[in-house]
Amino acid sequence: MSPPGPDPILTVRNVRHAYGERTVLRGVDLTVRRGEIYALLGPNGAGKTTLIRAACGRLKPDEGEVRLAGRDPFADPAARALLGLVPQTIALYGHLTVAENLEVFGRLSGVKGASLRDASAHAMAVTEVAERAHSQVRQLSGGLQRRVNIAAAILHHPSLLVLDEPTVGVDPPAQQAIAQVLRALRSEGVAIVMITHDLDQAGELADRAGFLREGLMALEGEPQRLVVQAFDDQLEVRVELEREPDACGARRLAAEGLSRDRDSRVWTCFAKDGYALAAQLDRRLREAGLGAREVRVRRPSLENLFALVNKSKPVA
Ligand SMILES: Nc1ncnc2c1ncn2[C@@H]1O[C@H](COP(=O)(O)OP(=O)(O)OP(=O)(O)O)[C@@H](O)[C@H]1O
Ligand SMILES: [Mg+2]
Repeated sequence: MSPPGPDPILTVRNVRHAYGERTVLRGVDLTVRRGEIYALLGPNGAGKTTLIRAACGRLKPDEGEVRLAGRDPFADPAARALLGLVPQTIALYGHLTVAENLEVFGRLSGVKGASLRDASAHAMAVTEVAERAHSQVRQLSGGLQRRVNIAAAILHHPSLLVLDEPTVGVDPPAQQAIAQVLRALRSEGVAIVMITHDLDQAGELADRAGFLREGLMALEGEPQRLVVQAFDDQLEVRVELEREPDACGARRLAAEGLSRDRDSRVWTCFAKDGYALAAQLDRRLREAGLGAREVRVRRPSLENLFALVNKSKPVA
C-alpha cells in the first residue's frame, strides 16, 4: 500500500531480483514523495543498494515495476534525468577546484552556458561550499568533499536525490552540516532517499524510514511513530558493567531480565518504570558482585527498534 499524500516521485511495486541463484529482493514496495526525506535502513546484504539501483534504472529487476514520475527509469533516459545520484565514494577530480568540478559535472549532465553558471552558484549555495569555490578539492576536509559531491549531483535540478551513506566517515559537525544541506534541498521540494547505517541521523532527519531485511521491507513509517508503536512508554535501561561477566554472572543478568548487547559488558532491558528499576538493578547487581560502571535510562530510539527488527523472525 502506498502511504497517503499526493505526488509520489518514485514508486516501486513488488520488485523481485536475484543475482544468479541468490534472491536479493523478494517483493519490495517503496513510495517516495516530493519534498520528503526517506531513510533506507537495513543490515549488510539486506538488498538496499540493489533496490536503489533498480529505483535509479541502473538495474532491471526480474519482476515488478519501478516508476520515476510515472516513467520507467531503466528504459527512459528522460526519467533518469530527474535523478541525482550521490555515490558513497567521493567521485570528484581532486586536482580541480570546486568550481571546475561543478563545471565538468554540469556538462556531463547536459547543463551549459548561463544555466550552468546559475546551477553551479545554486549548488554551491545550498551545500555551503561557495567560499571554497576556488580551492582544489583534494585540499578540502572529508565533510566538505562530501558536500561538493552532493553539489555535483544537483546541478541539473533533480526531483529525486539518492545518496548512498552520505555521512559515513565524517565527524559529527560535518554530519550536521550535511544534514542541513539535505533539509535545505527538501525545503526546495526535492525528494531524498538516503541509505544509511547511522540510525541517530535517520531518526533526526528522515520523514519516513524503511527497514529492509532479507529482501523484504520489514517495517516502514515515521521514525518516532515506529519507535512509540514498538516500545509504547517503556524506557531502555542500559547497564554497563565494570568488567565482563563470567557464565554465572551472565545467568544472573539474564535472570534480571537483561539482554546482552554487542559489547558483553553492556546489558539492557525495557521497562515502564525504568528509573525505579535502574536504581534497584544497580543495587542488586552490586550485591551480586556485578558492579556497574554506569546505569542509564533513556527513551528508546531507532537503534533499539532496528535491533528488535533484526532479531525478530522474517515475515516470509
Ligand atoms: N552484482 C552482484 N552479483 C552477485 N551478488 C551480488 C551483487 N551485488 C550484490 N550482491 C549480493 O546481494 C546481496 C545484497 O546486496 P546489496 O549490495 O544490495 O546489499 P546492501 O543492503 O546494500 O548491503 P550493504 O549494507 O553491505 O551495502 C548481498 O549478499 C550481495 O553480496
Ligand atoms: Mg549497499
